[in-house]
Amino acid sequence: MAIPHAIPYQGSKRQLAEKIAPFIPSEIGRFIEPFAGSGALSLYMAYHNKANHFILNDINAPLMHLWDAILTNPHQLAEQYATLWHHQLGRERRYYDLVRLRFNKSHAPYYLLYLLARCVKASVRYNNDGEFNQSPDNRRKGKHPQTMKHDLLQTSALLRDKTRLYNQDYARILKLATPHDLVYLDPPYAGLAQKKTSRYIQTIDQSRFIQQLEWLNHAQIPFILSYDGKTGRTHFQKDLPVSLNLTHVELDAGRSSQQTLLGNHQITYESLYLSPALLDRLPSDLIQPKQLSLFEGIA
Ligand SMILES: C[S@@+](CC[C@H](N)C(=O)[O-])C[C@H]1O[C@@H](n2cnc3c(N)ncnc32)[C@H](O)[C@@H]1O
Repeated sequence: MAIPHAIPYQGSKRQLAEKIAPFIPSEIGRFIEPFAGSGALSLYMAYHNKANHFILNDINAPLMHLWDAILTNPHQLAEQYATLWHHQLGRERRYYDLVRLRFNKSHAPYYLLYLLARCVKASVRYNNDGEFNQSPDNRRKGKHPQTMKHDLLQTSALLRDKTRLYNQDYARILKLATPHDLVYLDPPYAGLAQKKTSRYIQTIDQSRFIQQLEWLNHAQIPFILSYDGKTGRTHFQKDLPVSLNLTHVELDAGRSSQQTLLGNHQITYESLYLSPALLDRLPSDLIQPKQLSLFEGIA
């Protein structure tokens, strides 16, 4: 069985999970994702039996209702998705618009699943009134119902009895963590936030975010932060104070599909920042000397 991914989600760490996992200590209490999205890291951890308890949280309420439906009633969700998928055939564009309209009225999880499976780049976009306004990808019909059913059932089997779901601001979830847990933070990119993107319901305030990281350090709670990326010479970098004492690791994330489409075959690098409490729990030979930049924050 491959790792299931029922929720198509732009920004998912699905492709990177394998490269992030070595930085997660072998014995952890709970694996906590305050910015869960599609929870790709949690799925990786559950699949490889690397954690037994999970907390998934996201500010996006319909997304967390979808998670709830996946964990508690995947069979019904699979049937609802299959009904939508079959009903669309022959009138895909009009049907997408109809489902989007219905979703904006009801926020029903099955509508969101269908929209994510069909929309451009699986990218969640809302207008200023909080309505989902992403367009369909007219080249695709969305994941076939059989495959979706398989992914939904497997996701549920992996996480059902081990996971607590929340729909809160991330800062409230951090207060649940203890030094035995591992917090994985994957906030929206600040570069996009500055452009006032409507990709996410809410973007984060950077100075408040840094205060939260300081608190995690103070409480000796280990965390991993996915924080920026660069493709070729384009840098999405943000300031992290030196005083946070984070270790910066660059992960080779392969070729950016967007750049490949534009004819550029550049490699994307993704930055991880490891907290001091985490470093104490990792084997000392894990961090290569050239990756080690303990005191090299970005001023
Ligand atoms: C980059 S995505 C996370 C992707 C995730 N790692 C995955 O594998 O799918 C960031 C997520 O943070 C959520 N988010 C934005 N602001 C938030 C906040 N204040 N508190 C909690 N979640 C928030 C967004 O809804 C989005 O799902």
